[in-house]
Parts: sequence; structure tokens; C-alpha cells
Amino acid sequence: MKVFSGIRPSGQLHIGNYLGAMRQWIKLQEIHDCIFCIVDLHAITTPYDPGELQKNITDAAIIYLAAGLDPEKSIFFVQSNIEEHSELAWLLGTIIPVGDLLRMTQYKEKSQELRKSPKAGLLNYPILMAADILLYQAELVPVGKDQQQHVELAREIARKFNRKFGKTFEMPEVFLPKMGAKIMSLQNPRKKMAKSEGKESYIALLDSSKTIKEKIMKAVTDPGKEIKYDLQRKPGISNLLTIYSLFSEKSLKEIEKEFKGKGYEDFKKSLAQLLIEKLEPFKTKQKELSKKEEYLEKILDGGAKKAKVLAQSTMKEVSQKMGLI
Ligand code: TYM
Repeated sequence: MKVFSGIRPSGQLHIGNYLGAMRQWIKLQEIHDCIFCIVDLHAITTPYDPGELQKNITDAAIIYLAAGLDPEKSIFFVQSNIEEHSELAWLLGTIIPVGDLLRMTQYKEKSQELRKSPKAGLLNYPILMAADILLYQAELVPVGKDQQQHVELAREIARKFNRKFGKTFEMPEVFLPKMGAKIMSLQNPRKKMAKSEGKESYIALLDSSKTIKEKIMKAVTDPGKEIKYDLQRKPGISNLLTIYSLFSEKSLKEIEKEFKGKGYEDFKKSLAQLLIEKLEPFKTKQKELSKKEEYLEKILDGGAKKAKVLAQSTMKEVSQKMGLI
């Protein structure tokens, strides 16, 4: 199967990104044809520092590789290097009603967060995402829960296009992890873990051991003292248990048993220790790769060359069907 997914180069990537998405990619690349993309054109739809963007792209690429992305097995590139993404997005924009974009949860949330008037790019964000997916005829799109609605919209766009111009696009399916599709903020377990929620609310993959410990010890918990998974009554502990389970590869039941009779503090200390251990290899690899600029460039250039061939083929078909050539 063809798999496509992307990640914004928006500074530090966190364990939500890792558990919700990157971890799946690493597994999927073993069995499918995978295309992974650093979506810089998406990253500029909210306020950003142009002077930082190239560094953020490099950092994101390094983290992908440190997490286990294998450029021999997957195609890996930067979105803006393939202009067909923007071109297809423009064309798809002609068949999607504005109303469908206005009802997107992420648009509503982000436009509210931004006090200044939201830009058209933010509204059109899901069209570009649909273009990313459809350009490569992807059948499977591994993402976290927050991107599910956008993948569904991509399906809707594919359906509309195929109906109007004849079968052109594959129907992409969303691929959510069974557990970890929505890791919550450490400071507010009713909201998803996101960079925009503030530094204390997420663990970055490159956080120092000291920072990891501090953030976990300060994580918001719930009334009572039992270590028990109960999303309704104990959203804080349930989120921490989910993180523990995914990093330790132990079931929730096993962990509950292990911490029976122990308090939140003991549990948090163990979780901090576990994260420190599991994130250590990222840091080591990241340091190694940071010194290999040329190697990194070669991987991304090579990826873009392979992606270009696929993108051009779809664009040609789309342009023909739409009467542009
Ligand atoms: P982005 O960069 O916000 O996030 C990258 C991936 O991480 C997942 N994620 C989470 N998963 C679980 N818990 C969380 N708290 C959490 N926070 C983030 C996201 O769901 C995502 O899978 N629009 C996309 C990038 C994109 C894309 C695409 C994805 C652009 N084009 C095409 C798939 C296909 C985004 O901004 O993700």
C-alpha cells in the first residue's frame, strides 16, 4: 500500500507527535511504500520567524531520522521542494466549498487563538494537506486524532474530483494508532498536547533529563491517589498511564498492578525515569546527525527527486482531466 504522512517543522517535536504519528511511520515503512514529508508550507500558515524556518526544517529532518526513519525504505523530502503540492492545492481549491473549510475544528481553534484576523492560508490549510496526500495516490495516512478530520476532507475532495472529472485519485484511509492517537497536555488533560499550550504542557523529544523530570513531577493529576486508568474521572493519570504504557510496552493493567498501593509521586518518578531512558537514544542520534549536514542534504535531495517523478505524473493526469493541457 502507498502511505503518506507529514509533520510541520514548527520547532520542537514532542512525545505527542512521536506516539501519535512518527512511531507508526517507522513501523509502516517495513511493510508499505511510504512517503514522509516535512510540510514547511503548512508551517507558515501561523505566525513564524522566517530566520528560523530552515533550521526548524533541518531539526525536524534530524528527529525523523533519529526516530528510525530509513531513507532507503521511505521517500523523505521537504514539501516546498516539490511545487506540484501548491499547484494541486490551487486546483483542488476550485472544487471544495468554503463552508467545508470553515467547519474544520483546527481552523476554528487556531483562528480563535490568533487574535489578529486569521489568514486565507490557514483556512486553505486542509486543501494543501489533501494535495499532499492525493498527489502521491496515498491509500493510508497515519496521523494523530487531531488530523483525522482533515484526512476525511481529503477523501471528500477526492470523491468530488473523481465524480466530476473521472476516476483520478485513490481514496485515502486514515490510520490511527490504537493507543496514543491523542496524547493530552501535561497541564490540562482535557486538551491535546501541543506546542501552543506552553512549554510545561509537553515533553519535547530533545528535552534534557532534568527538564523531563520537572515537567512530569509538575504534571496535573486528579483527586484521589489511586493509579488507575479512568478517562472520565482521572484524565490526568489516564494520560500519564497511556504514555507509560506506550513507552514501556506494558499493558495498562500490568502498570496498574505494578503501582497498586503506591501514590502519584512514585508513579511520576518512574514515568520520568522511563522517559529519560527511552528518549536518550534520540538525543545521542540527534547529536551525531547534527554534524552530518551533507548527508542530510543528500537524503532530502534524493527524496525530492523520487517524489518529483510521482508528483509530476499525477499533475499531468489532473491537468489533462481538468482541460488545462
Ligand atoms: P502536526 O505537525 O501538527 O503533527 C504531526 C503529527 O503528530 C500528530 N500529533 C499528535 N498525536 C497524538 N497526540 C498529540 N497530542 C499530537 N499532536 C500532534 C498529528 O496528528 C500529526 O499526525 N497537518 C498536519 C501535517 C500534514 C499532514 C499532511 C499529515 C500536512 N500534510 C498530509 C498527513 C498527511 C499537521 O499539522 O501535523
